[in-house]
Amino acid sequence: MKLLHIDSSVLGSHSVSRQVSAAVVDRLRQANPGLEIIYRDLGSTPLSHLSGSHLAAAQGAAAQAEVAQDLVAGQAALEEFLAADIVVLGAPMYNFTIPSQLKAWIDRIVVGGKTFKYGPQGAEGLAGNKRVIIAISRGGFYGTGTPAAVGEHLETYLRWVFGFIGVTNPEFILADGIQVGPEHREKALAGALRAATDLHAA
Ligand SMILES: Cc1cc2nc3c(=O)[nH]c(=O)nc-3n(C[C@H](O)[C@H](O)[C@H](O)COP(=O)(O)O)c2cc1C
Repeated sequence: MKLLHIDSSVLGSHSVSRQVSAAVVDRLRQANPGLEIIYRDLGSTPLSHLSGSHLAAAQGAAAQAEVAQDLVAGQAALEEFLAADIVVLGAPMYNFTIPSQLKAWIDRIVVGGKTFKYGPQGAEGLAGNKRVIIAISRGGFYGTGTPAAVGEHLETYLRWVFGFIGVTNPEFILADGIQVGPEHREKALAGALRAATDLHAA
């Protein structure tokens, strides 16, 4: 069984989502020692943003050298994703949504004919054969009924985009209110780490 572990925080060892995604992977590794784990750090090794040259090359145009290299990296990211049985994703909220590094990765895995296709009924996801677990960390509070709920475009976006490619039940572990103060940060982190430890591992 293959697990793809992805982090996207730019805050290195200070990152909450990195600690929680690592705890999720530990939990799954302990339950399944034979797990093959692939790690991708989008903070330290980002993919480029898609450009017209990328899209032209995908249509068969000759690629410039720097784009050619990045196309290979993007193809590798797609193949890793397609091959994974489990995906564990660390996803911090930056300006109400995902980090741009994570968006660049999503742009490489949401690919027509690979992870979705259009048919008579509209879009159909092709990547529904995966368990996706997402560790979210947010500075504030965005729960239903809170004033900021309408500004939440991280969890809602990820739920939608994974649903679009067929992953209809992504699992979320939340660490909220990280910027409220040190005490609350510790409490939210401890709660998220507990949730990671309690995760069903089958
Ligand atoms: C560039 C930047 C933008 C942020 N934007 C938001 C935001 O829009 N809303 C929010 O609640 N917290 C925001 N935060 C706080 C982070 O979501 C919070 O610190 C979280 O723990 C980040 O996850 P990480 O620790 O894994 O990097 C922002 C933090 C940074 C560094």
